[in-house]
Amino acid sequence: MNHLIDIMDLKKSEIEELINVANDIIANPQKYSEVCRGKKLATLFFEPSTRTRLSFEAAMYELGGNVIGFSEAQSSSASKGESVADTAKVISCYADIIAMRHPKEGAPLVAAMNASIPVINAGDGGHNHPTQTLTDLLTISREKGGIDNITIGFCGDLKFGRTVHSLINALMMYSGVKIVLISPSELKLPVYSKDVLDKNGIEYVETTDLEAVLPDLDILYMTRVQKERFFSEEEYLRLKDSYVLTPEKLECAKSDLSILHPLPRVNEISVKIDSDPRACYFKQVLNGKYVRMALIMKLLGVEA
Ligand code: NCD
Repeated sequence: MNHLIDIMDLKKSEIEELINVANDIIANPQKYSEVCRGKKLATLFFEPSTRTRLSFEAAMYELGGNVIGFSEAQSSSASKGESVADTAKVISCYADIIAMRHPKEGAPLVAAMNASIPVINAGDGGHNHPTQTLTDLLTISREKGGIDNITIGFCGDLKFGRTVHSLINALMMYSGVKIVLISPSELKLPVYSKDVLDKNGIEYVETTDLEAVLPDLDILYMTRVQKERFFSEEEYLRLKDSYVLTPEKLECAKSDLSILHPLPRVNEISVKIDSDPRACYFKQVLNGKYVRMALIMKLLGVEA
């Protein structure tokens, strides 16, 4: 059975193939409009989402398929005490593929071990978010013409930000990537992620000073401070506005910088930047739908 639980489940050649298919979908959407006719995607979201759930649903509809599911744990039998394993077995009777988001790290893996259909991790706690990573890689590749030899700065909540953890793991597969980690000392990248960087001989620096490193960056990956993963409200309030990107700060950045953000944005990018040609975060949203179309096709084994 094919699942996508961790971005490391994919080989580099498979990631490249998904990027190629997504680019072809963008160029020739009509070619793909019926490929999933008669298939059902189940979106099982135990945690809030706007983009990920709706982009999965839009993706399946644009492939000609159908969607069932729930968008909060309260409206599912989880609220009666049903286990993730049982839910996965039940949904396997109704659908052809599952996209699951869950606040507990590892829950989509448990689902995959119990389902008889492919399971996609749509975000598990502070752990992984592989389909956001595919979205990010497609965006970087479209903006920069490739993923090798980039200098990328990750800014904000690098401790709890699952999109950062997954994207860093994927970047290990590319060459000449330099990583700049910009965060308050309380929200640094976890040691287990830094170990991965060290083991792969990836060059990285850690800093608290965004403005000092901004001129060096080809990509700036902004993130929000992950309120829901904090143990103390006071600590969140103290750290939430650690970085706010403004047009003034951007003056020293490269003219071809690409600014990415998985969204939702809270305060960390001024809305004044939205009209700057370097802002890519809304294009990134659209790319997310196309790459999820490519992924659904791959896991269902359908071709155009
Ligand atoms: C991200 C997530 O859920 O981890 N959002 C998303 O899927 N685009 C980022 C976030 O919530 O900050």
